[in-house]
Amino acid sequence: MAARELLLLCVLVLQCVGVCGRPPRVRDPPGCGYQSCPATKPSMLNVHLVPHTHDDVGWLKTVDQYYYGGWNDIQHAGVQYILDSVVSELQKDPARRFIYVETAFFYRWWRRQDERTRSVVTQLVEQGRLEFVNGGWCMSDEASTHYSAVIDQMTLGLRFLNQTFGECGRPRVAWHIDPFGHAREHASMFAQMGYDGLFFGRLDYQDKTRRMKMKEMEMVWRASESLQPPTADLFTGVLPNGYNPPQGFCWDQSCSDAPVQDDPDLEDYNVDDLVDTFIKISYTQAETYKTNHIIMTMGSDFQYENAVPWYKNMDKLIHHVNAKQATGSKVNVLYSTPSCYLQELNLANATWPLKTDDFFPYADDAHDFWTGYFTSRPALKRYERLSNSFLQTCNQLEVLGGPRSTHGPFGEGNSDTLKRAMAVAQHHDAVSGTEKQHVANDYAKRLAIGSAHCQVLVSNSLAFLSGSERPRVFCENLNISVCPLTEGSRQFVLNVYNPLARPVSWSVHLPVNGTVYNVSDWDGTPVDNQVIPVSKATRDLRRDRGYAQFELVFRVQAPPVGFNTYTITRVQDSPAPAPPKPGAPPFIQNKYLRVTFDTQTGLLSGLSNLETKQSIKLTQNFYWYNASVGNSESLQTSGAYIFRPNSSTPNTISSKPEVTTLQNSVVQEVRQQFSPWVSQVVRLYTESKHLELEWTVGPVPVDDGVGKEVITRLDSSIETDGYFYTDSNGREILQRRKDYRPTWNLDQTEPIAGNYYPLNTRAFIKDEQSQLTVVTDRSQGVSSIYNGSLEIMVHRRLLRDDYRGVAEPLSEPGDYYDGLCVRGRLLLALTPPSAAADAHRPLGQEMVFQPTLSFQQGATNSTTQQFSGLSSALPPAVHVLTLSQWDQDSVLLRLEHQFERSESHAQSQTVTVSLQKMFSTLEVVGVSEMSLGANQWKEDIKRMEWKSNSSETPAPLREREGDPAPWEVTLHPMQIRTFLLRVRRK
Ligand SMILES: *[C@@H]1O[C@H](CO)[C@@H](O)[C@H](O)[C@H]1NC(C)=O
Ligand SMILES: *[C@@H]1O[C@H](CO)[C@@H](O)[C@H](O)[C@H]1NC(C)=O
Ligand SMILES: [Zn+2]
Repeated sequence: MAARELLLLCVLVLQCVGVCGRPPRVRDPPGCGYQSCPATKPSMLNVHLVPHTHDDVGWLKTVDQYYYGGWNDIQHAGVQYILDSVVSELQKDPARRFIYVETAFFYRWWRRQDERTRSVVTQLVEQGRLEFVNGGWCMSDEASTHYSAVIDQMTLGLRFLNQTFGECGRPRVAWHIDPFGHAREHASMFAQMGYDGLFFGRLDYQDKTRRMKMKEMEMVWRASESLQPPTADLFTGVLPNGYNPPQGFCWDQSCSDAPVQDDPDLEDYNVDDLVDTFIKISYTQAETYKTNHIIMTMGSDFQYENAVPWYKNMDKLIHHVNAKQATGSKVNVLYSTPSCYLQELNLANATWPLKTDDFFPYADDAHDFWTGYFTSRPALKRYERLSNSFLQTCNQLEVLGGPRSTHGPFGEGNSDTLKRAMAVAQHHDAVSGTEKQHVANDYAKRLAIGSAHCQVLVSNSLAFLSGSERPRVFCENLNISVCPLTEGSRQFVLNVYNPLARPVSWSVHLPVNGTVYNVSDWDGTPVDNQVIPVSKATRDLRRDRGYAQFELVFRVQAPPVGFNTYTITRVQDSPAPAPPKPGAPPFIQNKYLRVTFDTQTGLLSGLSNLETKQSIKLTQNFYWYNASVGNSESLQTSGAYIFRPNSSTPNTISSKPEVTTLQNSVVQEVRQQFSPWVSQVVRLYTESKHLELEWTVGPVPVDDGVGKEVITRLDSSIETDGYFYTDSNGREILQRRKDYRPTWNLDQTEPIAGNYYPLNTRAFIKDEQSQLTVVTDRSQGVSSIYNGSLEIMVHRRLLRDDYRGVAEPLSEPGDYYDGLCVRGRLLLALTPPSAAADAHRPLGQEMVFQPTLSFQQGATNSTTQQFSGLSSALPPAVHVLTLSQWDQDSVLLRLEHQFERSESHAQSQTVTVSLQKMFSTLEVVGVSEMSLGANQWKEDIKRMEWKSNSSETPAPLREREGDPAPWEVTLHPMQIRTFLLRVRRK
């Protein structure tokens, strides 16, 4: 230890004598966190310089290419060198600071460091000189992510930091400097993770102008309408220059601003000019902020690969600006961090404006709305969502199967690979769809490898739980009717695993070649089933990937957090089932819904809920917007980020699709072919309370030289008056209104693109009588342009880049290099508004956390054909958000109340759950509650308090009222509680 400290001191002395021309400041930093903050001067304007780098976890290059610095012809960027260089420069002066954000990179780097470097870095962290901010695996996208995956990726990063650095590794500040708009649910999650504040860079330019004028760049964001303030209150600051340094002060090797040239004997001496300019900039910036502290972000994308020019020049800047104080200057500049800046704001005791809506959509100019990426790369968005569902199944089965799930009959399986792949996929250039094509391929490949590792785990676990070690097959192409096992087998077994905490039923379509099948449940009960011909649209879509002629359709059921087993036996190979009949029927219906069609056009014409006796007119069709290539008003094109149609009127694909209809005892399908590249199945299952629209779009033709943005639009008789509703990251609902923003007087300059919002799981429109809710299977862009309508963008294929850096047109090649085909589903529910949440909350979850199907050849040899990991189903309001192995004998459990405060008479109530009796095979022997990010014990959480100009004074926290007993936990609407359980196998 001593020898190393001596070495450190030597380096320091040498460096400072050579560089700063002043004696070294040797002092004992008092500790990390807020204690390590530099002194400021209360009577001066304090300028906090925050040295930082913004390291995208994949964008123009893959995450690993960025880490090593490969492919520098695409973009000069190598994260390993950034960390090498910064660590070396930080050691030269204890005043220097650096923040690091993306744990995916830091983890890669740390693993390759020797003990000596690790201990230097640990010391820097313990002295607050190197500080982690945000600290998730990545800086997640906010528009197209689901809260479950965001919480998981934050947990992964924060856990690594805690394990590596303990309390000093815990980030205090959330740092979302680059995401293209900001979701309210993200702020809510950050608050519940214990962060004291959030800083970001991007917001609508009109909003920014107003906030600067009103000194409202910093605020308190009340991010939940259900959670008792201040649970979801988060101090939020808008950074002055995005995340870049002020103009003229970029000293990275990649910049070309003048260095501080401080020797009067040399040419181009510029200290006086630079100091004057800097002081001027500081005062100008201070005019738009409330306190005598301002922040400057000294860095940008992948900067500090060579940290020398940055630090050398900032050292000099600080020295020369502060030297002026001797002659009366009132500007004090210092190395700082976001948390040190935040602490000063907190100490200022100011009253801050309150923000209750969100920061979508984001526009950086009049015709530059970043609303295209809500839909960009729809297949990647779906694959990410599907992977999240499989990861939850994998995590649960790792817990339920115990050690045999990772080392079992099928070899070594793990959940870590998929956890990391999912965490990387949350990055704001990953699931957002704003990366280059080869990077998108890399994200998908990581998910596929992660899924393969989970498949081994799931197979091992199911072998243990079911008693059958026969191999299992996961058919990942069921959506295009491809599964060699079901197609070719005389007899096979289907295992349906349900990750939800209540029983679910679900309809399955299995590709087959027989014409009559027996399907039986786990106890031998026959299950009604039908064989239907594979549609032409599906055959066109799968091309040569499979040869099934038919689909076997039946309904499966599975118990909470458990599985059910079905045996399927082929009885006959002929005659073929009847082909669908030409034309649309006047209606299809089951006991819950009646769906009417215009028999002339073949389009939907109405929807009735037969239980509540509600009816609406409802038409639906597909259209495309002509993607702008720029015009005289603005050169802005439509691209991966930006949506800009060249006309507000979309083009109709067909007003009279070719229609065929198929009706039997389990399903009714109206199959519509709108064009060779757009088709849809309007599908009503006999046992279902919702209508399914399964759309297939692509390859979008562009040989006419026109980029196309494809939407489906529902036009209803509901009186919406410009209002519609969207979810925030899959959780709380936000009201939207056409051509309107709640916090400023909008000057609407893009009548279509400026009205698009992200839709993660659901959107709806309603009037006094009726609510039409649409639940979707992936994140998309949504709007309501006309009274009673809701439009959802499903696919985009574009021919121009949109000048935001990606430098590629968004034209995905697909598997056959002729353009990507995408298939997806929308579920429609019609209810009275007061009963809507009771329908769409469970439906939304079934779509997100869908059952995992696996198949075995032959008759079953399982000893356990039905299994539930829970002793009994949880109340309908409660969702098991996380059930994941933490350590050898501990398990991370998150329980969530999935209803908002006043959206359901029946469910928006406080519920109590017993942890002790929760699991059927696990005995809970200890419980500790944690923060949402699982990096802090609940009793240690202490967040900064802020005053806001809210009329509502924060009441004492309801959750502090306590649980009835240590094992009995109470959940309030929208509350998520995180527990570490010590468990023993029963
Ligand atoms: C803010 O309030 C605290 C406690 O009341 C006090 O110690 C501190 O001096 C105040 N700070 C300012 C800048 O007024
Ligand atoms: C943080 O890490 C330390 C050291 O590994 C561990 O003892 C502690 O339990 C961790 N804290 C939490 C909240 O997990
Ligand atoms: Zn970025």
